[in-house]
Amino acid sequence: METKIKKIGVLTSGGDAPGMNAAIRAVTRTALNYDIQVLGIRKGYNGLINGDIKELNGKDVSNIINNGGTILHTARSEEMRTEEGLKKAAQIYKVLGLDALVVIGGDGSFRGADELSRHGVNCIGIPATIDLDLDCSEYTIGFDTAVNTGSDAIGKLRDTSSSHERCSVVEVMGRNAGYIALWCAMAGGAEEVLIPEEKDIVNSQHVIQQILENRSAGKRHNLIVVAEGVGGTQKLANEIQEITGIQTRATILGHLQRGGSPTVIDRMHASMMGYRAVKAIMNGEKNKIVVYNKGQYHTIDISEGLKMKKVYDEEIYDVVKILSI
Ligand code: F6P
Repeated sequence: METKIKKIGVLTSGGDAPGMNAAIRAVTRTALNYDIQVLGIRKGYNGLINGDIKELNGKDVSNIINNGGTILHTARSEEMRTEEGLKKAAQIYKVLGLDALVVIGGDGSFRGADELSRHGVNCIGIPATIDLDLDCSEYTIGFDTAVNTGSDAIGKLRDTSSSHERCSVVEVMGRNAGYIALWCAMAGGAEEVLIPEEKDIVNSQHVIQQILENRSAGKRHNLIVVAEGVGGTQKLANEIQEITGIQTRATILGHLQRGGSPTVIDRMHASMMGYRAVKAIMNGEKNKIVVYNKGQYHTIDISEGLKMKKVYDEEIYDVVKILSI
């Protein structure tokens, strides 16, 4: 396939997610396959603004498909929130002679891309965030690895919690979205899950009531999953212990959910989305996000994608509780 595209840039931005490396590899190798030069931009948009850039060849992306983190490093760029930063980034893009910039990241990174597009930069987004909080795509790279890590940890807590007949309160990531918590709760067989979307409705009294009911129905240990955005995990554990008399331990999984070797699901989506991003650029598409919906990859305008608001799946929330009896 002949193409007018000569040179593209690629960066990772925002919180890292397992599978970002697989996406960098796919973008680089697809581009090289069509004789397109690839510049790797380090530390997110900061690298573009500061010229922290290195050409990537096929070997630079060897042995990374199986690694968590990102070889390009990442950052949440404060400068990109300023008009000056945006102008600087757009200026460097022009000086480098880039035909497009592939942005691998989440919601915040795409807001930056949307702004940059108004300064003449052609941005193509690849959704990568463990939070799964983009409504325009049913999948975001990193989610599967993160929930597998979370459910593995919960399984281990279940062992010790069951031995001691204790209650375990586990905090998983997700500042604004409860998807990680919902999936970890379901896969870990938790009896209660607290998510940011419901934080004004479900309180500690409700949780304690549930624990007491389950104990009187014969449960010998308890497992409660709390999303980071709800917070107060240690306080909740203290309250449960004080009011029920059941020994309770709090565990905050924190950033360990952001690392680790990506699962096959993450490697597959990252590879396909990386490939599709380059194809979109070659097809002359401008300012798009590569998304995965109903079993297919396609593209959507960045501005349209950002307007969509993700609503959590209430059915998962209900089923977690039904199955925990
Ligand atoms: O990348 C998403 C995420 O891991 C959220 O789940 C979490 O709330 C946030 O990033 C943590 O950000 P930071 O790494 O800046 O502490």
